[in-house]
Amino acid sequence: MALDKLNKALAKEADSLQEEGRAKAPERIIVDYIPPQGQKGPRYKLKGANTEFIRMNSNSYLSLSNHPKMIEAADQVSKKFGVGPGAVRFIDGTFQHHAELEERIAMFVDKPAAKIFNSAYTTVLGLALAINNKETYWIGDELNHNCIIRSMRIANVPQDNKAIYKHNDLGELKMYLQSIPDGMNRVVVIFDGIFSMRGDCAPINEIVKLTDPLVPKVKDGVITVVDDSHGIGAYGETGRGTSEFTGAQPDVIIGTFGKALGVNGGFVASSEEVIEAVRQKADTYIYTNPLSVADCAAAIRALEIADSREGRERLQHLHQRTKQFREGIDALGMESIPGPHPVVPLLVRETAKTHKMVNRLYEKGVLVVGLTYPVVPKGDETIRFQINAAHTKADVDCVLDVLSEFRD
Ligand SMILES: Cc1ncc(COP(=O)(O)O)c(C=O)c1O
Repeated sequence: MALDKLNKALAKEADSLQEEGRAKAPERIIVDYIPPQGQKGPRYKLKGANTEFIRMNSNSYLSLSNHPKMIEAADQVSKKFGVGPGAVRFIDGTFQHHAELEERIAMFVDKPAAKIFNSAYTTVLGLALAINNKETYWIGDELNHNCIIRSMRIANVPQDNKAIYKHNDLGELKMYLQSIPDGMNRVVVIFDGIFSMRGDCAPINEIVKLTDPLVPKVKDGVITVVDDSHGIGAYGETGRGTSEFTGAQPDVIIGTFGKALGVNGGFVASSEEVIEAVRQKADTYIYTNPLSVADCAAAIRALEIADSREGRERLQHLHQRTKQFREGIDALGMESIPGPHPVVPLLVRETAKTHKMVNRLYEKGVLVVGLTYPVVPKGDETIRFQINAAHTKADVDCVLDVLSEFRD
């Protein structure tokens, strides 16, 4: 009864989203996982469908989620320590597995210290809360992930304390760096490592070249922050991410354990001082339960695997399949954004055709993400494909085969 009026208002708002084409489709539900067999990589079954699907829309780039060693690690610690932490970190919810994962991930990205969070999303929010003050000026890429945009709002960054540069436009970034408003004593340049809808990366080396000379001129310096959620584990020669690929170290690295590393949770790695500020001031770290010990144990094992011979082989296979897919798209005369990352966007540039292709792929057992107007501007309609290390050569050929039906 009390909800009647609110229900009506919310239903009306949902209808408007529907009319504007911005409503989320109902979620598909995975009900079965079929392990790889011979030429076939893993397949998934969805509720209400008989088909076995290839996931070309998963962020699990190294395909570690079903790794027996990770499952065993999660199992073992759960049996001993339980499945939940019982309290937040400050109230004796810190287990040895949290501390160990923090040490391991800091080492992995070559930083002195790290803190883990429930997700990369809450990590970015926490970092902004920890380092922002009234005299902080934020400069970001226009295509930054929603968590960076939201972090500015949550940290109450006023409009005058931020600037947004065109995607990867170093000229515009330089202009903003040269016109930092008076009174700004701390400057943060923040960007995604890999832009998740495009698969291209931030030129961290070039960005650092622009920010470094300004450090002495700003009271608290000019720092670079990368959210490398799609890079960590999947990019660079040993999977260190966009910093390895571009050969430059940003000051702060944020990442997720929930994509290439196949588990869940986020982290921030930087100096001891930045990490202590996070521990003291990041509400999304302080006032919420941490990851379970099972997540931590699985993530520790994922880092070990990523750094082993097996990890290198997975990464190499991922590169080969990505190359195969990208070359296949080129051979079909279709348009993409070049680069070695396993996010491969197919630029269709028409809403109706995008829907038709996504539906056909679904009929043929391929799950992908279609982005159409108004979610993307007219003319930028795209289908995002994501390759992972469990895809076989035959899987990629099978997807290309469906796409060949749409060759002009
Ligand atoms: C750039 C970027 N940052 C953060 C996230 C969120 O990661 P998590 O699922 O760990 O919160 C995503 C995932 O979509 C992402 O693409």
